[in-house]
Amino acid sequence: MAERGKILVVDDNRVNRLTLSRSLEAEGHQVALAEEGQQALDLLYQEPFEVVLLDILMPGLDGYQTLGRIKADPELCDIPVIVISALDELDSAVRCIEMGAEDYLSKPFNPVLLRARLGASLQRKKLRDLEKAFLQQEFALRQNEKLATLGRLSAGMAHELNNPAAAAQRGAAQMQIAFARLQETLVGLGHQGLSGPQWESLGDLDRQARAKVQQPLRLEPLETSDRTVELEDWLEDHQIENAWEVAPNLVNLGYRRGDLESLSAPFTQSQLPALMEWLNCTYVVYNLLEEIGTGSRHISEIVKALKTYSYLDQAPLQSVNLHEGLDSTLVMLHSRLKQGVTVHRQYDPNLPTIQAYGSELNQVWTNLIENAIDAMNGQGSITLRTRHDGQWVIVEVEDDGPGISAEVQSRVFDPFFTTKPPGKGIGMGLNISHNTVVQKHQGRLEVFSQPGQTRFEVRLPLHLVPAGTA
Ligand SMILES: Nc1ncnc2c1ncn2[C@@H]1O[C@H](COP(=O)(O)OP(=O)(O)OP(=O)(O)O)[C@@H](O)[C@H]1O
Ligand SMILES: [Mg+2]
Repeated sequence: MAERGKILVVDDNRVNRLTLSRSLEAEGHQVALAEEGQQALDLLYQEPFEVVLLDILMPGLDGYQTLGRIKADPELCDIPVIVISALDELDSAVRCIEMGAEDYLSKPFNPVLLRARLGASLQRKKLRDLEKAFLQQEFALRQNEKLATLGRLSAGMAHELNNPAAAAQRGAAQMQIAFARLQETLVGLGHQGLSGPQWESLGDLDRQARAKVQQPLRLEPLETSDRTVELEDWLEDHQIENAWEVAPNLVNLGYRRGDLESLSAPFTQSQLPALMEWLNCTYVVYNLLEEIGTGSRHISEIVKALKTYSYLDQAPLQSVNLHEGLDSTLVMLHSRLKQGVTVHRQYDPNLPTIQAYGSELNQVWTNLIENAIDAMNGQGSITLRTRHDGQWVIVEVEDDGPGISAEVQSRVFDPFFTTKPPGKGIGMGLNISHNTVVQKHQGRLEVFSQPGQTRFEVRLPLHLVPAGTA
């Protein structure tokens, strides 16, 4: 069936306009008329048209200028323009086609030609509209999937951030008490009237404590308990009241019985309780500072990973370090991985950076790794491998789960194909990943699977030529 549409006829010649409009209406089209270019543009901005029939020589805005404006405006440029020209204006018609006109019609009009060319243009317009609608739909779907992934990941991240944040907060609260106690012990030592060399000894002990806390001893539990008993005995022998509390901290400072003998040598027996209390508090303060530092560092690492993962402050197409992207994805998925998945990273140390859409690739790694975790039911191992092959870089995500049957393999990239129960997966992860890799990055995404081993291979070009500039 012939396409029907809404057509704008632009011609300064009244007879031409009416002839055209009559024959178009006879074919079932809707027609609007304009006498010159500006009037035509005004109409085009007011309502949608499927085709414009445009005369070249007109007063005011002529055909070239009108065509130029239509093609320069993203809102109008998809509307096909058919140029109307007299036979001796053929050169002008060719020039219009070079400027983006779809076709030309020569006067006097031949009804058969008019019908054929109009039909073809209408069909092209319809296809273009469909393509646009499809792209918009795909974009919306991608955004939805991205939001869903972010929602899922941020729940995990909140959990991940909670532990170090709580540790740092707890540490800071305990620090207030410990620091006040340390100040008191210092005042106590001051009252003992320490000599210059004794203060110097304290300075040495302080430096040793600080160093020890940064490189803690890793003792077997039995060894720890033996050493604690040993020091507790020594402390009790020297009339230290809270020996049970001080001994474990002195063990952590690396001291043995002999060390206590020598470090206490410059002090008198009556100074000893204040000295031990001071040493104990010094350890507690440095240890808390270390805990607060570790917690805050962990928080910064997570925030940094979040930033890399989402490429928050960068342009969409950028120079991408794939290892950073993979690592930040692992941080994002940590709460799912730590339940029983071992991750092996076999990264090519010489892998070059590539031009790519960083956050979209991270979405691909997320989909592949989440699928592997799901397939293995949270227990098994995942290998992330990267390599470099001529003009390609390759990223592999391999798991030792049950594998994918040949029948399922042929459908995994289909939209909405899933073998997961409702609420667990919608079957879009691999479809979107495929589009991201193949369409957006001109790469390849393939699956190789057998029982006990599934490998998804992503191939990306080193130099991506952005769409529209190829
Ligand atoms: N590593 C894997 N091992 C086994 N099966 C897999 C693996 N990866 C994907 N599949 C199969 O492919 C199907 C489609 O995967 P896809 O990621 O597209 O959707 P989904 O994971 O089911 O849902 P969604 O990703 O949208 O949450 C999965 O349901 C699963 O059957
Ligand atoms: Mg999935």
